[in-house]
Amino acid sequence: MVETVPVALPGRAYDIRIGHGLLASAGTEIAPLLSRPRVVVVTDENVGALHLEPLREALSAAGVASEALILPPGEATKGWTQFSACVEWLLEQRVERRDIVIALGGGVIGDLVGFAAAVLRRGVRFVQVPTSLLAQVDSSVGGKTGINSAHGKNLVGAFHQPSLVLADTALLETLPERDFLAGYGEVVKYGLLGDAEFFDWLEEAGPALAAGDREARIRAVRRSCEMKAEIVLRDETEQGDRALLNLGHTFCHALEAATGYSDRLLHGEGVAIGCALAFELSARLGLCSQEEPSRVRAHLAAMGMKRDLSDIPGDLPGAEALLDLMGQDKKVVDGTLRFILARGIGAAFVTSDVPPGAVLDVLRDGLEQGPART
Ligand code: GLY
Repeated sequence: MVETVPVALPGRAYDIRIGHGLLASAGTEIAPLLSRPRVVVVTDENVGALHLEPLREALSAAGVASEALILPPGEATKGWTQFSACVEWLLEQRVERRDIVIALGGGVIGDLVGFAAAVLRRGVRFVQVPTSLLAQVDSSVGGKTGINSAHGKNLVGAFHQPSLVLADTALLETLPERDFLAGYGEVVKYGLLGDAEFFDWLEEAGPALAAGDREARIRAVRRSCEMKAEIVLRDETEQGDRALLNLGHTFCHALEAATGYSDRLLHGEGVAIGCALAFELSARLGLCSQEEPSRVRAHLAAMGMKRDLSDIPGDLPGAEALLDLMGQDKKVVDGTLRFILARGIGAAFVTSDVPPGAVLDVLRDGLEQGPART
């Protein structure tokens, strides 16, 4: 069964199609969008080794020819060098405005290829085929594209909506457990920010979902995409509500910077820890009861996920230095940090009204805490 989540942006409406084994239908899914039976695919070496040939076969079965560019894997690809290589290759391939570029991969490939599509001939269409859980529930949806600069992550980019997202949940079976659980951090985020019932369900179904339950995986991806689509419809370019999607991210970005964007901390792991810290901060500010952060951390613990600063291997800088790193966040407006806090599970809101002393206390207590507790 294939589920469809529509993203009804006026003039740029598209569908997110979600299903187990959907890659095999990529040709019939994509062919109706084409003005000529030819596409180009950009992927990375790791994803390409697993999923490029099945994609090309599916395209070919629908009479669609394809050429592919295979980039190196990893976050370093999301910079000017590979971006430029990708754009030049697309031009060599004579990709025209009415053609489709396919991004086959996780967040790095989706963001880079989306940005290349945004600027090529001032905008060509692209299709996202996200292969990681994080990309299926977050980065492939909503049109944020871009690359990193020496000054920071995602600082160069454009809003450019895809023409279609094909999320094949069978591809998640090839992910290492750590990557899957990191992506699950973003799934939990949706429950925490706006859907308490979804969080209730994740508490029950999370372990089966992690163990491979197909129906549960489809439901989790679908609900996450529905919530993201709804927020993007309200606020495509993040003037207000879209910032809700950054629950946990202000803490996360500081922790990623403090750990050198290394595999000491994957993005989704930082989001999970950041969500736990955002709920802790909310409780201390009297916005929600202390049971709420405990419940968040208990679920992350039950899933075998990182949830405390002490779960990050190696040394971290002190609380002041972490607060300073938060000040580099893109959500700083006129020098004031914007936080996503919560009045309870499923009730997040955006605020600039957070005393730095309260943030410092949460960080200090987290850093002082010993080995992981549940
Ligand atoms: N990942 C947050 C957003 O798309 O707005």
